[in-house]
Amino acid sequence: MRISVIGCGYLGAVHSACMASLGHDVVGIDVDRDKVEALSNALPPFFEPRLPELLETQTAAGRLTYSTDISATAAARVHFIAVGTPQQFNQHAADLSYVHQAVDALVPYLAPGDLVVGKSTVPVGTARQIAATISRRCPEATLVWNPEFLREGFAVQDTLIPNRLVYGLPDDDRVGWSDQAGHAARAGQTAQAGTSANGTRENAQSMLDAVYQHALANGCPRLVMDYETAELVKVSANAFLATKISFINAMSEVCEAAGADVSMLSDAIGYDDRIGRKFLNAGLGFGGGCLPKDIRAFMARADELGAEQALTFLREVDSINMRRRARMVDLTRQACGGSLLGKRVAVLGLAFKPDSDDVRDSPALNVAAQLQLQGAAVTATDPEATANAAQRFPELNYAETTAEAVEDADVVLVLTEWQQYRSLDPAWLSGQVARTEVVDGRNCLDGEAWRAAGWTYRALGRPELPAAVPAPA
Ligand code: UGA
Repeated sequence: MRISVIGCGYLGAVHSACMASLGHDVVGIDVDRDKVEALSNALPPFFEPRLPELLETQTAAGRLTYSTDISATAAARVHFIAVGTPQQFNQHAADLSYVHQAVDALVPYLAPGDLVVGKSTVPVGTARQIAATISRRCPEATLVWNPEFLREGFAVQDTLIPNRLVYGLPDDDRVGWSDQAGHAARAGQTAQAGTSANGTRENAQSMLDAVYQHALANGCPRLVMDYETAELVKVSANAFLATKISFINAMSEVCEAAGADVSMLSDAIGYDDRIGRKFLNAGLGFGGGCLPKDIRAFMARADELGAEQALTFLREVDSINMRRRARMVDLTRQACGGSLLGKRVAVLGLAFKPDSDDVRDSPALNVAAQLQLQGAAVTATDPEATANAAQRFPELNYAETTAEAVEDADVVLVLTEWQQYRSLDPAWLSGQVARTEVVDGRNCLDGEAWRAAGWTYRALGRPELPAAVPAPA
């Protein structure tokens, strides 16, 4: 298939490279010249495992190109919309301007029979609006809503081996649609094109099946539904994941009050198949470019639909999540003997999760910034995210290595559970710091081993472990 991918951020860059690796001819379009140039030279503009190799092989094979010129989409028959939908400034709702701009820019280049595939995360109702826009300008092109479920850090794997494919297809009776502004779509347009509405649906489905032939042949479930359900599948999946994390973090608060251990609690309840152990890691909570803004946009959309009561619990999910960051600052203050003023705090981890350089709404960066603003002298490091963090919050000291970050520290914080921090040797570390105080923001360290090596170990949702022996001088 000849494919265009509009928007080359996390989603579009990975999607374009993966589609090319499946044998399709792909052009990625983005308005950002630097990004297009980097991608054209097989240099990913962000850290994502396996992406550099894919870009290298696929651009060299000539199947993958990038351009700032939207007219390059004219050669493609399937067009993926993969632009961002960030949170609006000072509001909970999603900013859809990039999606609408992308569609407006694309429609002049659509040809009869083309398929437009929406992948961006949007509020329910958006697909129907976009379909009306496309329908007015190119009645014989069809929109499918096909949300993505990729996780940063595993984005290539999730794109090539998805755990499900969701197709939101147009209604059978798409003749006579109208958009929200009340513009009636041209009656009889599908008939004029010589295709029945069902024919359009079937055609759209089989085109998308051809794109995803590889995954489907490997047994990936494909669920076909209407636009609204497809849009809701995406946001409700993210709302569920956020709720699961905040549930265990709420238990963490109760564990702190009762002197119990949330990690053991997670393991114990997680053995029940109905609950499951995944996404029950208590700690600093969720961040990133998706979960926080998606639950807020979902609440805003439910308000507009008059269904606000249904999602009031998400407000609590958001609050629990934010309270963990404040608790982490308090634990650090305790570890510093009651005051942060002038204390040297070493922060290990800045990305919102391991295997990513993304610091958007990162709990780790948020905590590091709060500590600095409250008078501590913070030195932070991360295997991949230091540059992005320094751009967002230049006031911190940034170190290249763990050794540099922890030098003479009064307290060490682990805020993102990179493997290299999980496997730190507490005995080695105790020789680098001023005081052997550690706060584990992700419940990822072996508290007993740290305690045995002379550290006082604190964590979210677990009792404090005082040092077993004095740390070696
Ligand atoms: C999330 C979803 O997991 C994807 O399915 C979805 O496609 C994506 O958003 C999206 O909407 O594009 P992602 O943002 O990459 O993916 O991150 P997650 O792996 O979901 O982690 C989100 C946050 O939750 C991280 O800050 C992580 O540290 C935190 N988390 C995760 C916990 O605090 N505890 C857990 O048990 C799991």
